[in-house]
Amino acid sequence: MRYKEFAKTGRKVSAVGMGTYYDPLWVAAAFMAWRRGSERKVDAIKAGLETGVSLVDTAEIYKSEPLVAESIRGRKRDELFLATKVWPNHLHRDDLLRSFERSLRRLGTSYIDLYQVHWPNPRVPMRETMAAMEELVGAGKLMHVGVSNFNLEQVREAQESLPKSELSSVQVDYSLIHRRAEKDLLPYCDREKIALLAYYPLGHGKLPNDHRLDPVSSRTGRTRAQVALQWLAGKPAVFPIPRASRPEHVVENAGAGDGELSEADGAELDAKYR
Ligand SMILES: NC(=O)c1ccc[n+]([C@@H]2O[C@H](COP(=O)([O-])OP(=O)(O)OC[C@H]3O[C@@H](n4cnc5c(N)ncnc54)[C@H](OP(=O)(O)O)[C@@H]3O)[C@@H](O)[C@H]2O)c1
Repeated sequence: MRYKEFAKTGRKVSAVGMGTYYDPLWVAAAFMAWRRGSERKVDAIKAGLETGVSLVDTAEIYKSEPLVAESIRGRKRDELFLATKVWPNHLHRDDLLRSFERSLRRLGTSYIDLYQVHWPNPRVPMRETMAAMEELVGAGKLMHVGVSNFNLEQVREAQESLPKSELSSVQVDYSLIHRRAEKDLLPYCDREKIALLAYYPLGHGKLPNDHRLDPVSSRTGRTRAQVALQWLAGKPAVFPIPRASRPEHVVENAGAGDGELSEADGAELDAKYR
């Protein structure tokens, strides 16, 4: 597994991460404390950790924090980079602090590496949310602050609302078939040294079936999924977080972190999907 600098954090994080949002049905079942299918999901996360994946993304809304806790049991905490998120109805100070404590408990850890605002909420002043984040950083419970589904203007506002900390990451939909991030966010992240966590990196499951990847796939001996992930992970700021629900897929996807696409292969894909 290749490890890359994660923004200005001084941490090196696996070039490929794991996402742990499953589907609305699973979230609803988890609300009712049903755990059907959770064993395979834990096996999947564990399989990823075995290959050296250190970045695991979850959220209070996903109901997968307990699965992450189960998967990391017995592992060295400082070799992991745990990212979770606060839902937009919890962005006032007291709500955010309570959400954070609940996430800590569910993850079974004493600190979180990256706490992200899941979606912006225009009804809550950004300064209040970010001041609460800085309180957590000051208390040593939170290492780094991130946001998700923010546009460039909102990212700038978040940065300006963090006088004592850096904004370390922004998480958005980004893949070969969804490239809006390239318009302004990605160049900004590159310039500012902000990590870009790419969700739906496999186009929400479309890319592993996309024949346009075949020429690069057969030239490199990589699967289509690996090619699609390497295209993302080859960009210095970008960390793809494909969903981890099936061990075979997780191991295959983690394999993308073992190498890089050549410049020519990357350019061919750029052109094909533009
Ligand atoms: N911040 C946000 O608002 C937000 C929104 C959406 C998602 N996310 C994050 O992004 C993560 C990924 O999103 P996603 O799961 O919807 O999209 P994705 O990773 O692009 O695609 C997942 C789909 O691809 C399949 N797949 C994965 N690896 C494969 C492989 N090697 N070969 C063939 N098929 C493969 C999966 O099947 P299997 O499940 O059977 O492996 C699943 O159907 C989520 O888990 C979550 O952490 C964040």
